[in-house]
Amino acid sequence: MRILSGIQPSGKLHIGNYFGMMKPAIELQEQGEAFLFIADYHALTSVNDPAVLRQMVQDVALDFLACGLDPDKTAFYRQSDVPEVQELAWLLSVITPMGLLERCHSYKDKIAKGVAASHGLFAYPVLMAADILSVQSTIVPVGRDQKQHVEVTRDIAIKFNNQYGEVFTIPEPSILESVAVVPGIDGQKMSKSYDNTLEIFGEPGPLKKRVMKIVTDSKELEEPKDPDTCNVFALYKLFATEEEAADLAARYRVAGFGYGTAKKELLTKINDHFAPMREKRAELEKDVDFVNDVLRQGAEKARAEARETLQAARKAVGLE
Ligand code: ADP
Ligand code: TRP
Repeated sequence: MRILSGIQPSGKLHIGNYFGMMKPAIELQEQGEAFLFIADYHALTSVNDPAVLRQMVQDVALDFLACGLDPDKTAFYRQSDVPEVQELAWLLSVITPMGLLERCHSYKDKIAKGVAASHGLFAYPVLMAADILSVQSTIVPVGRDQKQHVEVTRDIAIKFNNQYGEVFTIPEPSILESVAVVPGIDGQKMSKSYDNTLEIFGEPGPLKKRVMKIVTDSKELEEPKDPDTCNVFALYKLFATEEEAADLAARYRVAGFGYGTAKKELLTKINDHFAPMREKRAELEKDVDFVNDVLRQGAEKARAEARETLQAARKAVGLE
């Protein structure tokens, strides 16, 4: 099994990213050959300040290493250190039907949110297909919002293989349904674009404030409450054992339990869960050379695979 995933360095990572993508991807490194990259080419579709981009790449690298990515098990690299994906993206572009890209929700959502409608943004899924196909990955762990992009990748790979012969492995998305959509503090999908996130490595003060602001219904203290429709409970469940979740759910249903208590318990869970990772991150921050070495070695490994795939693709289309 070959596992690949990527993340854009375009904002502070939040617990939606953590449960939806980081944690599953990090856990899968135990089960196969894993590749994980920082999608800096993709980030250029929305980040246009070079200093900000550099900082965000560095931050994401630290975040993943602090959260348990093991560079001995996972090739961890920067997308732009594997320029072969760009050439591969072109070979895929020329057989990608416009209609396939026109149907992509993510493009439409981003335009609706005010991201400039560039050719790069429109062609984003083709570059993503090149990332995935370049290392012949079989499994792509992502949150639900990226599922369509993996399906587009499959369509492109199948079309290429039918037209030119078997060059690409057809990948499958891997989506953990239990964490497919982590809610934000306003109840919508947690996303940096909605300003509703709880950051993994945020400062304690602002984090506490945001947890206390999580939207709930307006039931009085003496009314019993429904855990299954509550955002605080949905977030708590991500961190709790089954028994802890059952215990909190039972307390919700008894009069006299307030949302403030649930929020405080959630905050404790978040802080306990991320405490060792925050500590590790602070240590790693002092060792920039180590982080750069990890990324360089990861790129070498990914590049060796990408070169081979690209050569097969070039040959198949008649460039060699
Ligand atoms: P954002 O929505 O904050 O911009 P990204 O689109 O950069 O996040 O997503 C990075 C990864 O994290 C993707 O694999 C995505 O599916 C996953 N992800 C993001 N938000 C959530 C969420 N609220 N619940 C589950 N997974 C998520
Ligand atoms: N589009 C993904 C996101 O926004 C990032 C990404 C780029 C990716 N290339 C990928 C994810 C390849 C998985 C596989 O989160």
